[in-house]
Amino acid sequence: MTGESCLAIVLAAGLGTRMKSALPKVLHEIGNFPLVGHVLKAVQAAGADEVAVVVGPDMEALEKASREIVPDAKCFVQVDRLGTAHAAKAAEGAYLESTVDHVLVLFGDTPLVTPQTFRAIRAELSAGSDLVVLGFEAADPHGYGRLIADGDKLLAIREEKDASEEERKVTLCNAGIMGFRREHFASLVNRIENNNAKGEYYLTDAVEVAHADGLKISVTTAAEAEVQGINNRAQLAACEAVFQERMRQSAMADGVTLQAPETVYFSQDTRIAPDVVVEPNVVFGPGVSVESGVRIRAFSHLERASVAKDATVGPYARLRPNAKIGEGAHIGNFVEIKNASIEQGAKVNHLSYIGDARVGAKTNVGAGTITCNYDGYFKYHTDVGNGVFVGSNSILVAPVSIGDGALVAAGSVITEDVPSQAMAFGRAQQVVKEGRASEMRARLEKEKKQQKAKANS
Ligand code: UD1
Ligand code: CA
Repeated sequence: MTGESCLAIVLAAGLGTRMKSALPKVLHEIGNFPLVGHVLKAVQAAGADEVAVVVGPDMEALEKASREIVPDAKCFVQVDRLGTAHAAKAAEGAYLESTVDHVLVLFGDTPLVTPQTFRAIRAELSAGSDLVVLGFEAADPHGYGRLIADGDKLLAIREEKDASEEERKVTLCNAGIMGFRREHFASLVNRIENNNAKGEYYLTDAVEVAHADGLKISVTTAAEAEVQGINNRAQLAACEAVFQERMRQSAMADGVTLQAPETVYFSQDTRIAPDVVVEPNVVFGPGVSVESGVRIRAFSHLERASVAKDATVGPYARLRPNAKIGEGAHIGNFVEIKNASIEQGAKVNHLSYIGDARVGAKTNVGAGTITCNYDGYFKYHTDVGNGVFVGSNSILVAPVSIGDGALVAAGSVITEDVPSQAMAFGRAQQVVKEGRASEMRARLEKEKKQQKAKANS
């Protein structure tokens, strides 16, 4: 394409009434990432030179989220929500003085559109179209604007509420993304009226205005799975499903084994190296990276955690924020790790909670070991050195440290530091009474017999 430049205007001011939510619609998430974030990442990848986001009043969180993704995005507030054309006009500051060649208007509630599709729209503009509409064949067109055409010629876009019976039968729908030659954009938007069922200014009416001006209008199409919009929670779930399927396919294409792909859930930023095996029913929350040779066993949940080469995690493990699993380490069943680094070759295999801690290389943490890291007010650190053996069912009361090569006896409550190579017993002394068990049984049996005799007399 040309080297022509582009301004992307993302409309995101809608409240999304049908979501029945206190959250602005476009801050709802798929793949644990806001809808508007997916759109912004895609326009960025498609090479937008300038990005404007139209937000509603009191949507600071949305402005902040937008700038986190595109730091120089300009945010404009649409005070009254009078429709998509009115929203586009709120971004006048971005286009009136601009010298870009293309203006792309897209919706923050349509998160699955790929950079390729944005490029296809721009290619049409570069090839001589003044206005390009992205259309799709809808399995169920209900609620979408219909593309009203005469042969190849697009005459208008009709919203569901304004459409006649005949027009509602049209299945070619408006995806919501429109591309304009910038020199026509302001003039088209300014002439849009609000004479429709909702009394809103519809950006889609730009088609009729452009038609009257004799401008060149074209339609490009995309698959419905890519352009489906989100107005309610069911559509949110439908988009999540498409997104997850994309992530699974791309993980497998990149060399990751998914034993039951349909049961593995990814976040937008999940990073998994080739030759990782993921067993069924694994959830990757945000911020997870996994190096090659790792096996994530069934029913594990990972979030803001990293797993180094050749480690194993699970089954039934939970890695919470800032869990760092070292090379070749083993995290076993019913183990929870939070803000802790489990160093190279260490093992925490059964029923443990390790929080705010370091577990040194080659250390073995026995079944049921718990770090007591919290007193209800503050959190404290536990440091376990290299080559330590922590016996089963031990309680490590932080702040506490255990030196390299030390041994902690099973069942210990460790409240004081254990020096390197020492052995610590933190439990009551065992007492053994020879023959006491049979003596006790004999006594109790006798008592029981006497009671029975009394009851029968
Ligand atoms: C819109 C299109 C419809 C298309 C469908 C595709 C119009 C008039 N209709 O309908 O043709 O088939 O998308 O999903 O364009 N917004 C604002 N300010 C407003 C109104 C909307 O910022 O005043 C934003 C919303 O946050 C949303 C987007 O614009 O991200 C689309 O608005 P929405 O109300 O969802 O339009 P639809 O009824 O879905
Ligand atoms: Ca919508």
